[in-house]
Formats: sequence, structure tokens, C-alpha cells
Amino acid sequence: MTNLADLICSMPKAELHVHLEGCITPEQAIAIGKRNGVDLFESLEAALSAYSVSCLEEFLEIFVKVSEVLLHVEDFAEVASAYFDSAAAQGVRHVELMFDLQAHTRRGVPIATVLEGLAKARRHATRSGLSTLLIVNFMRERSEKEAIELLSSLVPYRSQIVALGIDSAETGHPPRKFTRLFREARAMGLKLVAHAGFEGPPTDIEEAMDLLQVDRVDHGNRVYERPELARRLGSAHAAITVCPLAEVNLGVIASLAEHPIRQMLLDGMRPSVHSDDPAWFGSITENYTSLVKERALTPSEVFELARNSFTTSFLPASSVSSHLAELDAMAESNMRSQ
Ligand code: HPA
Ligand code: ZN
Repeated sequence: MTNLADLICSMPKAELHVHLEGCITPEQAIAIGKRNGVDLFESLEAALSAYSVSCLEEFLEIFVKVSEVLLHVEDFAEVASAYFDSAAAQGVRHVELMFDLQAHTRRGVPIATVLEGLAKARRHATRSGLSTLLIVNFMRERSEKEAIELLSSLVPYRSQIVALGIDSAETGHPPRKFTRLFREARAMGLKLVAHAGFEGPPTDIEEAMDLLQVDRVDHGNRVYERPELARRLGSAHAAITVCPLAEVNLGVIASLAEHPIRQMLLDGMRPSVHSDDPAWFGSITENYTSLVKERALTPSEVFELARNSFTTSFLPASSVSSHLAELDAMAESNMRSQ
């Protein structure tokens, strides 16, 4: 396992499913909150206990609360830069960072503040050789009208954003609620993603595919409740961003040993492994190593997952090819040394 853990850390990989707000550590929530007069916790112990969650509803409550410490350009830059540094140190070569714009605009933080902070962090990441792209997510419990209005306010920032997605509360807020939003985003040339089939039913995955025409499904862990859907995603080689530790910690998968990721690979889907909310559920390498340990993934399966993280990314084809060449060379030398 130690060798495999080293291999996982040095293996080139892309992080395609990580939320900016999910990167705010308890220590950062306290320090940035103090600076901004937003005192959420009396002590680190109080913060750690508030961070301990067991279902999506509980998690979203603290996730939104902690987001309230971010007020200024520097705050957004600090959280994203610290995350980019930690990703680069774990062999991540490319990050597609999601952010919940409404978690900030609803408190009066201007769009320009959020995007300037993220742009600053992206420049910082470039200096350490990490490429980054941004995905703007809309919260499913909020209205489509509000999302469409915000999307039109994003037009001046279009070049900074690669994709649009939906996340947050799934129950009672099916993807079909956002059909118009996704149509408009597609017309703007944005790539499309959606959290679906995490807590909500597998029909949400079908709606994300058919009505929203997404390029990637985020989580999709409930796909095997509908065998014909699993067959369809397999033949389409569908891109699925799996976040095993978030899925187990929030109780939508019973244990890592029961995670369907191997079946997804066998059936032709293109799952990849990500952290979702590293400040709550662990880093990308912790996600890989826990899966390897509990699900007994082989080195060739691990390499396949890393390959998928590049082939399903929104990077240009030339960058994908050069990352794959490096990854394949490492896979080959690993095989020879076995
Ligand atoms: N936001 C952040 N993390 C998550 C979500 C979400 O909506 N769903 C599952 N993990
Ligand atoms: Zn997520």
C-alpha cells in the first residue's frame, strides 16, 4: 500500500470536482472570519464539531454558513490559492474549480469580487505549473429565474468560465427545473455539468443527460438502481466525477467496499476520482488511497481513473495528449517494475 500511496501522489491527475467553499478549513473559517468581523465559532473545537456532518442537508447548512466569511478579493484568493498549492503538492496537474456564486451574491458580495479573487489564485497556480479552469454552479433549491439573471450578469466574465453546473439540495429540485438555464448556457458556448443521482433519484441523471445535455455527471452514484440507465451510460462512455469519501460520509453509499466505481469502469463509463469538499472529507489522494484500500483497486484501475480525469476534462486536446503521454509512461514503467 505504501508504494501504491506514493504512486498515487506522484501520478499526474486532474481534479474535476472540488467546490471552492468546500476548501475552507476550520482554521481558515476562524482566521478569515475574525479579520472580517464574522465570528462563527468560539473555538477550533467548536468549528470541528460543526464540521462533523452525516447527511447532505446538514452538510449544506454548514457549507453555506462557512461561506459567509468570504467577503473580499483577498479572501477568495487565499482559500483558492491554498487549495491549488495543496493540489499541486499531490501530483494534480489540472483543476476545474467549482464555486457557488449565489452563496456570495445573496449576501451582497459583488460578482467582480468573487471572480477577481479567483483570477488572482489562478495566476498563483500557473506559477507552480498547475492549469486551472472555473465552473460556476447554481444552487438547485434557488429559482431558475435567479440563475438566468445571474448568468446574464456573467456575460462580461464569460472568458473566465469554462462550464456551468448545478449542485446543492437535490430532493424536490430535479434537473428539469433548469432546462432553460442550460439552453442559454449552451448557446454561450459553456460546457455543462450537473450534480445528479447523489441523494436524488436516478431519474435525475436521465434528466441531466436528456434535458440538460450535460458533458459530465457529478457523483451519479445511484445509477445502478436503474440497470437500463447504467447500460446507456456505459455505451455512451459517460463522464462521471466520483467523490467516494463525500459519498460515504454523507451516507449515500453505505461503505467504500460497496462503491460501484469498479462496475462503472467495467461497464464502459469513464469515472474519475475527486475530493468534492476537501476541508470536510479529505484530499484527492486520500480519496484514491481509501478506495484502493477498501475497494482493492489494482494499479491498472488506478491509472485508468487518472486517464479518465484528463479525457473527460475541459482541457484542449493537445494538453490532454501531453498529460496522457506522461501518465502512460509512468504506468508502463510501473508495470515493468512489478
Ligand atoms: N455542494 C458541495 N458538495 C457537495 C454537494 C454540493 O452541492 N453535493 C455533494 N457534495
Ligand atoms: Zn460536489
